[in-house]
Amino acid sequence: MKLLKSISKSLTLALAATALCLGAQARTFDEVKKDGKIIIATEGQFAPFNYFQGAKLTGFEVEVAEAVAAKMGVKVEWKALSFDALLTGLRQDRWDMVIASHGITEERAKAVTFTEPHYCSGGVIVAKDPAIHAAKDLSGKVISVQTGTTYLENVKKVSNVKEIKNFPQDTDARAALASGRVDAWVTDRFVAKQALDANPGSGMKIGDFLFIERIASAVAKGNTSLAAEVNKALAAIQADGSYAAISKKWFNEDIRCK
Ligand code: ARG
Repeated sequence: MKLLKSISKSLTLALAATALCLGAQARTFDEVKKDGKIIIATEGQFAPFNYFQGAKLTGFEVEVAEAVAAKMGVKVEWKALSFDALLTGLRQDRWDMVIASHGITEERAKAVTFTEPHYCSGGVIVAKDPAIHAAKDLSGKVISVQTGTTYLENVKKVSNVKEIKNFPQDTDARAALASGRVDAWVTDRFVAKQALDANPGSGMKIGDFLFIERIASAVAKGNTSLAAEVNKALAAIQADGSYAAISKKWFNEDIRCK
């Protein structure tokens, strides 16, 4: 009797745990579709990809995601959070998708499911001193990067770097270079280009690529139904000219992966 009781007790516990897990499960495409809206999280501090113009969230990725959602027949509910919260929140099923210029890496792919890439780019070396433009020039230097990024991972691989200064936002990593607190800043090539165009007097120069990467959205690990629909919609906007138009508008070129 005692045994039976304890068995039934553990069964109840197991069932409750299962229910909890199910309750927190990622929404399938059908569930998103039924709801009429997809919840997408981004950072909003990474111009020209995702940023705020006053109170309005905008940027290349915001427009691409809106176009993808429109093809899927749903509206977007945007969330803006710090970069380091984005993939974590996805794992807790607090939103359906993340679009924030994440490079596809093996490490991240263990935790989330990436869609097809929506652009290709890479990390570049930005410095004021024209003598600092290649990876070997980082030897003995202090470098700024945004925390949790592939820029950090790749600067770590460069030998003899004196110090890597981490900043929660890429804009702070840029400010560190602007004010001379670091020797170089490693960031996305398009972000660097936009920052230099916006500040022609800053004295910053764009050097070599440190690495290249494929940038994609992410959904919860194993949410294949949603990933498949996003991929279909992305392929559709890349085929019908709307992706090209958005890309031209922001970059004057088509930045899709070739
Ligand atoms: N591409 C880099 C990475 O994958 C940086 C992404 C930064 N994104 C942002 N919204 N600040 O880590």
